[in-house]
Amino acid sequence: MSDVITVRGLVKRYGDLRAVDGIDLDVRSGEVFSILGPNGAGKTTTVEILECIRKATSGEVNILGHDLGNGSKEIKKEIGVLPQQFNAFELLTTRENIAFFANMFDRRVDIDELIALVDLEHKRDTYFKNLSGGLKQRVGIAIAMVNDPKIVFLDEPTTGLDPKARREVWDVIKGLRAKGRTIILTTHYMEEAEVLSDRLAIMNGGKFIAMGSPREVVEQHGGGRSCIVRGGGDAAMRSLQDMMPRQNDGDVSVSIADKGDLVRIVSALERDNVPYDEIMLKRPSLEDVFLKLTGRRIEEGDVSG
Ligand SMILES: Nc1ncnc2c1ncn2[C@@H]1O[C@H](COP(=O)(O)OP(=O)(O)O)[C@@H](O)[C@H]1O
Ligand SMILES: [Mg+2]
Repeated sequence: MSDVITVRGLVKRYGDLRAVDGIDLDVRSGEVFSILGPNGAGKTTTVEILECIRKATSGEVNILGHDLGNGSKEIKKEIGVLPQQFNAFELLTTRENIAFFANMFDRRVDIDELIALVDLEHKRDTYFKNLSGGLKQRVGIAIAMVNDPKIVFLDEPTTGLDPKARREVWDVIKGLRAKGRTIILTTHYMEEAEVLSDRLAIMNGGKFIAMGSPREVVEQHGGGRSCIVRGGGDAAMRSLQDMMPRQNDGDVSVSIADKGDLVRIVSALERDNVPYDEIMLKRPSLEDVFLKLTGRRIEEGDVSG
């Protein structure tokens, strides 16, 4: 697979703040690449530089063979953008809104095909203001597609949506990927990044602190599996004290290095007659990776994106 976006040493400064602090990035054709990070990490600044909306302080960006700067005009023809906090005309219908934006480009696309792409046939003639949050985002994705772009940027497309609406947007994104579009997605939802991404970067404080497929990132930084003794409480803590147990809400967890550890845990609990609800094995998640690398939770103190 060839790279469609190459970024080297990208920096964006606002006064003393390095909102983007020297990132490198290669996005391959046809993949969903996510930038996962908490509020203020620098996600929007990064993608808006790639979208030719903001100017970088320094660094090199090449998109589809064009350099940012003198190639921006060519780049803009080939990309689609769903901005963070997207809005359309309240008193235009789904179809009218998409047609309005489509008319700004030379390239002719079939409006009804776009409406089908985001599964909005049943809302074709509904005013934008009367759509739910999830449906509005799907109109936004259709608008991002009006110039038939090769690369689509979606900045926090599901922030603030309920779980059902979020999943429906995921289905639309999966559909775009199946049609061969390259997608750059930003999100602060772990599960979203895990479910949708071919590869992702975890961003914090303007830097990429981990990069790879969700599985690679978890394997490299997740810190191995752990065994959870649910409801084990203080008795399990005492019984497993040699294995560096941690307690959280009565659940006791122990890091597992090999199968022998599991046997040792179960034997110790048997030996000491420790009551518990169940024993389970837990593989680390992207959340664990973020916690391990930064010492905090990604959605902690989040407002709305
Ligand atoms: N135009 C701007 N002027 C000054 N600071 C900004 C500007 N845009 C963003 N920032 C700051 O840069 C940092 C990164 O912001 P942003 O890229 O919006 O992060 P994210 O999208 O990950 O939430 C934040 O600290 C934000 O306050
Ligand atoms: Mg943002």
